[in-house]
Amino acid sequence: MEITKRLTRVAPSATLAAGEKARRLREQGVDVVDLGPGQPDFPTPPDVCRAGQEAIDAGHTRYTPGAGVPELRAAVAKYYTDLYGIEYSPAETMIACGGKHALYSIFSALIEPGDEVIIPTPYWVSYPDQVRLVDGQPVYVDAAEEDGWIITPEAVEAACTDRTRAIILNSPSNPTGATMPQGVLEDFARLAIERDIAIVYDECYDRFVYEGQRHASPLDLGKDAKPVTIVVGSASKTYSMTGWRLGWTVGPRAVTDAMSRLNSHLTSNACSVSQQAALAALSGDQASVAEMLEAFAERREMVIQRLSQMPGVTCSRPMGAFYAFPNISELLSDQFPTSGDLATHLIDEAHVVTVPGTAFGRDGYLRLSFATSMDRLAEAMDRMDKAFGELV
Ligand SMILES: Cc1ncc(COP(=O)(O)O)c(C=O)c1O
Repeated sequence: MEITKRLTRVAPSATLAAGEKARRLREQGVDVVDLGPGQPDFPTPPDVCRAGQEAIDAGHTRYTPGAGVPELRAAVAKYYTDLYGIEYSPAETMIACGGKHALYSIFSALIEPGDEVIIPTPYWVSYPDQVRLVDGQPVYVDAAEEDGWIITPEAVEAACTDRTRAIILNSPSNPTGATMPQGVLEDFARLAIERDIAIVYDECYDRFVYEGQRHASPLDLGKDAKPVTIVVGSASKTYSMTGWRLGWTVGPRAVTDAMSRLNSHLTSNACSVSQQAALAALSGDQASVAEMLEAFAERREMVIQRLSQMPGVTCSRPMGAFYAFPNISELLSDQFPTSGDLATHLIDEAHVVTVPGTAFGRDGYLRLSFATSMDRLAEAMDRMDKAFGELV
């Protein structure tokens, strides 16, 4: 059977592919240190698991309203209302099967064939493919490491055309860990209002920011930003619930209604049990989030320090999320011309899995997840140090 052009131009997720390689090696008995996956190494908090178990016992095992159960939509609306002082109603939220599904729903609702979506690079792997899946056109705007990986509204404005429909902003960023300052985000909101484009604000890592920062948003501009901003949130990272598949959108009613219509035909609803668990997570004790943040902060210090001492490597400080994005361009050579080649060499020789920068639209870097125990991270650093030492 012939596969559509739409799907043949979509590559499998590079981060999942790295995990697959690690799994195959492990099956062969190799001691692999896997710094590939983008998920916390902590279990889902016990009270959240219990809420899931109780949901099953209580019979929350049937279809729910398409956009989510009212209690969870209300909890999400309240969370954002309290955070930004902008009134959000449950009708302006949609519960999705993870942030990924939330993003795809947004693009389906907003992008006509040929519409342009501005994507800052380095980008999270799924953005370009998701935009292409709805026949949109990704337009890349490069962020620079020396600017802390922060793109400016001016650079984005220069890339805008009559076809520009949306810009994706992701803070804290996967893969760079950069966090966008409030002033810049407010300027983006002004630009979006002026040019009538949507800001898709992916804040799946919003609760993981370091050094006492406050997570900022285009909504900090106030209620004027509300009609142009669609926020994507997720329980995946915050509550270590990657497998439960639960995320959400918060944004204008018309977009929310359109996405709900789409999903009434696609998924019916997000998993009923996961919705109850996410409700418990959002409205319960947040101590588990603080514990994870503390652990990530310690590991971050160690990883940055070790990477910065490695031959041929420099590493800027990730200010959020749980990734380091070291610059390894000095290690590239005729033998290993791209970060993909270097990542493969690391897997084959040092049995350390990383994700090459090319997966995020930027060669010369590797992405390392520090959502792994301190011991395993230290082991990975030793192995990388040795492997890189042999290259310079
Ligand atoms: C930046 C970013 N956005 C969205 C997601 C989607 O996560 P999920 O679908 O598990 O909510 C991820 C997951 O890695 C991510 O890194």
